[in-house]
Order: sequence, then structure tokens, then C-alpha cells
Amino acid sequence: MDSLDLVSPYLFRYKRRNFLVKDEMRPKDLDALQHFELRPTDIFLVTYPKSGTTWLQQVLVQIMEAAHPDWAEDVTNRTRVPWLEERNADNPLRERSDPRIFGSHLPPDMLPQGVKAQRLKIVYVWRNPKDVLVSFYHFAHSWVLLETPKSFEDFFQQFLDGDVYMGSWFDHVREYQETRDQLDIHFVQYERMLKDLRGEVVKLCAFLGKDLTEEAVDHVVEMSTFKNMKTNPKANYKDLVETKRYSAKTMRKGIAGDWKNVFTVAQDEHFDKEFKKKMSNVPLSCTWEI
Ligand code: A3P
Repeated sequence: MDSLDLVSPYLFRYKRRNFLVKDEMRPKDLDALQHFELRPTDIFLVTYPKSGTTWLQQVLVQIMEAAHPDWAEDVTNRTRVPWLEERNADNPLRERSDPRIFGSHLPPDMLPQGVKAQRLKIVYVWRNPKDVLVSFYHFAHSWVLLETPKSFEDFFQQFLDGDVYMGSWFDHVREYQETRDQLDIHFVQYERMLKDLRGEVVKLCAFLGKDLTEEAVDHVVEMSTFKNMKTNPKANYKDLVETKRYSAKTMRKGIAGDWKNVFTVAQDEHFDKEFKKKMSNVPLSCTWEI
């Protein structure tokens, strides 16, 4: 077994990012992804954890469904939008029909080289990091691959220090913003989806070159509401709950501003200070205030 640069018994560090010890991916597997064979129609859904990955999987699947008569009724989104960083996923993924959609949490420099070279489409979803932190904290209690946080205070500090799965939120968002001109990337803000799901779906369709009828757009929206996804086993990762590798907490609250129920005033001030320090040069147009 490779010797790993351990951050904790659950995480190892590689190229400034933290990966899961209990997962199958090792540094050589991550490096091998640089040469992953791509097709011109491949689409990448990229997120920092807990930013709306599951939601966008559902939206993309609904938008692309008409192009995929091969998607059987009972197939889950996890299968339809397979994870890039899965060691044994390589062969089955190559055999998929076009357009393939991959999910990933990787930073821009660790994506397959061809994504940039061939200007493949990336949908990048981001969310108020305070809500990401709270969602992550709850998720870490239920996903067996993550260490259960000792306390909220502890996790709060780990998040700010980037000592969590995938490393720093600040680096992830900053690096995608900084490389946006070199990529064919469409940014989606979680909070904007909450405010106007239909509007965001229409923008996504334009980015993906999908000309959907009004009715088809309505259908995408209807299928992608929190209420519908919560009860849709193809969309909510219920199969993984049953294998005990996951938990129903993927669809937890689905709101903006839950951090206000959890952060102390001191934590809020501390977070704002860190945010300003780390993101001062990043031109972000946020729907939320820091
Ligand atoms: P909360 O834990 O705050 O509820 P990811 O899929 O990247 O792991 O992100 C999970 C977060 O997205 C969870 O946030 C989950 O509730 C939220 N989410 C998933 N589907 C959603 C939807 N249709 N509408 C709103 N939020 C959704």
C-alpha cells in the first residue's frame, strides 16, 4: 500500500487536497485521472462537497433525459451521473452513450487534462460556505467514510483550516473563479436555484445547448424540487443508505441560512473575518452577505 500523508485516520493529503483513507482512490489513481479518455460531448458537474451536487445531478439528468433513451426507468442518478474519482469506474464509464455526465469534487488542476484542452463543459455549483459548513457537519455524522466531529466548534475550525474532505472551500471556489477564462464553465449558485429554479434551469439549458419546450422545462423543475427529490429513491441516494455507506441526510433541510440556527455571534464574526482575508481578491457575486 502507498504510504499516505495522513491528516487524520480518515483523511490523507495529496496536492493540497484531502482524500478519504477508507475510499479506494490513492495518489496514483488520482494522477491517472489526468489522462482519463474524454469525448467532446462529456459534461462535468463539479462541486465542493455539500454545495448542491445531488440537486444538480437531478437537474442535469432531467435536462438530458430525452437524449438518453438508454437510461432505464429504475436506474439511479448515481449511475447516470457517475463519480469521476472512483477507481474501478473507468471501464464502464467509457462504454456509456453520449453525452456522458460525470460528477467530481476535484479542483481544476486535478481534472483530466482534456477538460481544459478540449474546453469540455463544466457546471460548477457553489453555495454560502456557512451553510456548506453546517451541512458538512451533519453529513460527517452519518457517512461512514468521514470522522464523526467531536463538536461543532472543532469542525468549525477544521473547515476554516481546510482540514476536511477535499480541503479548503476557499481554495476550491477561488481556483475555479481564477481559471474560469481557461474553461468552458457555467457557475450556478445554490441560493439562486432556491429563489428561481426555473430561471436557473433555463440558463443551464442555454449553456448545454438544449432547446427544451416550456413544458419540458416545467417538468425538470417539478422533478427537482426538494419535496420531490426527498421521496425519489433514484435522486436521493437511498440505495446507499441501505448499504450503510451513506445516510438519508443527503436531503436534510434544503434551505439557505440554516447556519443562523447553529453559529454563535463570535463564530459568525470569525468566519466573516476569515472570508474577507481569504477571498478579498476573488470577484464573487453572492446572493448572501458576508
Ligand atoms: P442541507 O444539508 O443544508 O439540507 P450535496 O448534494 O452536494 O452533498 O449537497 C447536499 C445539500 O443539498 C443538502 O443541504 C441538501 O438538503 C441540499 N439539496 C439537495 N437537493 C436539494 C433540492 N432539491 N433543493 C434544495 N436543496 C437541496
